[in-house]
Formats: sequence, C-alpha cells, structure tokens
Amino acid sequence: MNNFKFCVPTDIRFGKDAIECLPEELEKYGKKVLLVYGGGSIKKTGLYDKVYSLLKDFEIYELPGIEPNPKLTSVEKGAQICKKENIDVILSVGGGSCIDASKHIACAAYYDGEPWDLVLDRSKVEKALPIAVVLTICATGSEMNSGAVISNEATHEKLEINSPLLYPALSICDPTYLYTLPKRQTAAGTADIISHVLEQYFQPNDGAFVTDRLSEGILKTCFKYGPVAMKESDNYEARSNLMWASTVALNHLLTVGKGGAWTVHPIEHELSAFYDITHGDGLAILTPAWMEYVLCDKTVDRFAMYAENVWDIAGDDKYEVAKKGIQATADFFKEMELPATLREVGIDSDKFEEMAEEAVRTSGVSTRAYFPLDKDDIVKIFEMCK
Ligand code: NZQ
Ligand code: ZN
Repeated sequence: MNNFKFCVPTDIRFGKDAIECLPEELEKYGKKVLLVYGGGSIKKTGLYDKVYSLLKDFEIYELPGIEPNPKLTSVEKGAQICKKENIDVILSVGGGSCIDASKHIACAAYYDGEPWDLVLDRSKVEKALPIAVVLTICATGSEMNSGAVISNEATHEKLEINSPLLYPALSICDPTYLYTLPKRQTAAGTADIISHVLEQYFQPNDGAFVTDRLSEGILKTCFKYGPVAMKESDNYEARSNLMWASTVALNHLLTVGKGGAWTVHPIEHELSAFYDITHGDGLAILTPAWMEYVLCDKTVDRFAMYAENVWDIAGDDKYEVAKKGIQATADFFKEMELPATLREVGIDSDKFEEMAEEAVRTSGVSTRAYFPLDKDDIVKIFEMCK
C-alpha cells in the first residue's frame, strides 16, 4: 500500500429533513448568499420554496440555469455576481453540474484574471468562498470532493479544476430528494458511481487490500439497489444506499494506498465536450468496451477478482471468469436502460481521431493509467462502441 494523506473537511448532514440545519449553518459565513441551481427541477419539486422559507433572514442572489455539463460562461456570470455583491457563501442546490460550477465560481470570485486560467493552472487557486450543497442527484461525489469539471464551449475542452480549497464546507444529502429523478438520471448517476469505483479499483498497486474490499462493497451496493431505484423511485432504502455510495465512491476513500491516472473518464469527457451527452451515458457505453480491450495476461487476475468478488462468478479458467464479469457489467447497464452504442447518443465516427488525441493530451491515460492507452487504442475503443 502506498503512503497517503486523507483529509476531507466536508460536514455531511445525511437523512430525511437534514435541510433544517441550513440557516444555522449558513449563518456561520454571513448573510449574503449566492443560490446556484439548474434548469428548474428544484422549482417543480418544491425545494426552491423550502430554501427560501428557511433562509427568510438572508439576502439571496440567484444564479439559475446551470447546464448539465456546466459551461464556463455560467461560471463567469456567477463570479461577477460574487464580486459585485460581496457574496459570503455559495449555496448550490442540485447535482454535480451545479456543485462544479459553484466550486469554480468560489475561486473565480477571488481571482482578477479569466476564470479559465484557474482550470489551466491550479496553482492560481489561492482563495475560495465557502460552499454549501443541497444534493438532488447522486452520481458525481462532488458534494464531498475537491474537483469540478467545467466545459469551455469555445475550445471544446471539458477539464477538471481541483484544489483543497474547493471542498464544500457543508453537504446536505436527503435521499427523499432523489424520488423525483427521471429514470434516465437515476441510471446515468448509477453508472457514474460504478465508473468512479472501477477507475480506482483498476489502478496499479495490489497491496491495498482494504481499499479494494471497500470498493467491492460500493459496487455491490450499486448493482443491488440501482434496479430497485429504477422500479420504485420512492424506495428509501435504495435511494439512501445509492446516495451514500456515490459520496464514498469519490471522496478519495477508495483511492487511498493506490495511485495512477484514470482511463474511461478522460475519454468520456471528450464525448461530452464535443457532443454534450450525459456523462453517465458515455461511461456506460465505454466501460464494457474498455474492459474487453484491456483484458490480457497483465490484467486478467484483477478482472477475475472483480468477477468473483463482485458478481460471485466462480470457475477454473480465469479468462472465462473475467469475461463473464465483463458481460455481467454490460448486462447491468442494459438492465438500467442505458445506451450501449455511440450511435444511440447521436455520435458518429467523424471526431474519433480528434477526441482520442485530446484525451491523450489532457490526461495521464497514455502514461499513468492501469493499462496505458495511446491515441490509436482509444480510436479502436470508439470503433468497438459504434
Ligand atoms: O437542471 P435541473 O432542472 O435541476 O435538472 C437536472 C439535470 O437536468 C436533473 N435533476 C437533478 N436532480 C433532480 C433532477 N431532476 C428531477 N429531480 C431531481 N431531484 O438531472 C439532470 C442532471 O443533473 P447534473 O447535475 O448535470 O447531474 P450529475 O450530478 O450527474 O452531474 C454531471 C456533471 O458532473 C461532472 C460530469 O462530467 C458532468 O459535467 N462530474 C463531476 C465530478 C466531480 N466534481 O467530482 C466527477 C464526475 O466524474 C463527473 O465528471
Ligand atoms: Zn464521473
């Protein structure tokens, strides 16, 4: 197991009606709040009114309209409001897109140059406003991590900004807020959680036994409760287990003692940067193809371990066991009604080369991944997903 540092300062308030603590907690930072939210789901669900009734003694400014795959232009708007109105705290009510935009706004509020500079050079993130989150979709883990992924439409780049200053100070996770999620968001969110765990599970270092067993537990949770949440949107047991699974899947717990770069995420970020598709859809399409592509003598033991420990697949031939595990993963995504081909999400082969080149340029996929992939490998994976 590698040496590691683990410090996650986010205060999590989990459970039904956890939101009641909001006024008392926000009070610690001041009265001027920037409320960041998406395309309006919080108005339909009543959460918007709930926030206003709880924060009646606060001065609220709004930044609505955060897009799924949040755009740099929204961040710029938010940073301007923070600077002009001397905002004390950002309240992000939504999913990964709102939280990510809020994180970028939080540091851009203290930066005099262009907000995109902070993405390109993380050392420029020197100060950030505090962020409080009310989570409405479980997927990204952004509610308890220090990363944010922002799309720059002008350059077709979707890149991560990351700094210890960007952990939310507070995250309210009430599983009942997930009841209104459309099926396709439940499915895409579950695929995202699974992919986060797999990216870390398939990282170099075999000595991190405890981390691997925790990862398998989170994967089993997704495979058990994903279909339940699809069928019964108000199943509290399913929603609460998935909600906590999504947080743990990407709050650094599952990477401790390990290391290396991710693979499927940087490739997917090119799909959503160029075609604005749903992140979880892209991951569901790419993951089984990636697994199949990298299965070889070097990787087979870990794939067989995944099949045995997560899917309870037994057998004497480790290649057979590994292949069954990969098939079970693909079948699961199908059961969740997720797309299995790029064609289904409107992507043809026009930009395969360009996207593969960008994935290599903007990530460690060709150098530090579990199974390093160069541009040609990535194009072949895209071809497998056509
Ligand atoms: O915009 P509204 O109207 O609120 O609707 C949203 C949005 O259309 C809807 N929704 C959310 N909660 C709902 C709801 N609809 C009904 N009821 C509810 N309770 O769901 C749609 C998707 O929301 P979004 O925030 O985009 O989803 P998600 O949490 O999956 O975030 C995706 C973004 O996060 C990035 C992705 O790349 C993508 O840009 N990621 C962020 C990461 C991080 N910060 O650590 C890591 C991830 O790997 C990922 O890259
Ligand atoms: Zn993800």
